[in-house]
Amino acid sequence: MTADLFDATAMYEEDYLHFFATESKGPTHGPLVGTAYREDAAVDLVWRLLELAPGMAVLDLCCGHGTMANALAARGCRVTGLDSSPVFLERARADATAEVEFVAGDMRALPDWTGRFDRVINWTTAYGYFDDATNRGVLGEIARVLRPEGRVAMDLDNLTRFLASVPPSRITSALDNGDMLVDRHHLDPLTMRFEVERTVIRDGRARRLTFVKRLFAFPELRDWLVAAGFDEVAGFGEDGEPLTAEHHRMVMVAGRS
Ligand SMILES: C[S@@+](CC[C@H](N)C(=O)[O-])C[C@H]1O[C@@H](n2cnc3c(N)ncnc32)[C@H](O)[C@@H]1O
Repeated sequence: MTADLFDATAMYEEDYLHFFATESKGPTHGPLVGTAYREDAAVDLVWRLLELAPGMAVLDLCCGHGTMANALAARGCRVTGLDSSPVFLERARADATAEVEFVAGDMRALPDWTGRFDRVINWTTAYGYFDDATNRGVLGEIARVLRPEGRVAMDLDNLTRFLASVPPSRITSALDNGDMLVDRHHLDPLTMRFEVERTVIRDGRARRLTFVKRLFAFPELRDWLVAAGFDEVAGFGEDGEPLTAEHHRMVMVAGRS
């Protein structure tokens, strides 16, 4: 394990749900992660790209507060959701309408699940939080827990669109009661880590946290997936069409022949 580049516990907790798991206004400028898909569009897309079917064993890796995991379970998949945030897992369990196994864990070291899953889903930029060796190790963990013909889908920022549209700072969320998330951005081109200094303003009080995410061009992440043992890697946009520079999201789909 390496030292974390940011404190995920400070980031993925109740304040995050306050702003992102409710109807929020914003962003004031720039794209907001998670807004590229309307209603069930992400679930429909994953269903199609991964050729999901009822009864399949699916791991939602970094499942957050369970939106995707619960939707796939409602469609008949046998879903396991893993996340490191106890607050998110509690919300995921509360929202479930079908049986899901929600597990507290770390994507860097998955449980003894070798060959257990037909499919792995990793959604809404839930990848790239560590140094590169550790990030690559996460792909190895995904390959390990998939059965030999298993496939993975990862939803990430599309580099070209992201870089063309991201401002130096923005109000990322603004609620009617005046609560706000204000982000300042910095890209380190030597690491391709996008660093965010976030001020959470809630009930008139401010708290600051920082987080990072690694940005990827398609060929780089494709090569990492190939090195992790996948040999069929394709890239799509949020509409399921082949990736273009204009898409907001880059959906990597990888499998083994
Ligand atoms: C941007 S959120 C995406 C959540 C979810 N996939 C979605 O689409 O809403 C990233 C998630 O990664 C989780 N996370 C962060 N570090 C983690 C780690 N080391 N292991 C497992 N989950 C982690 C966070 O708790 C958070 O739920």
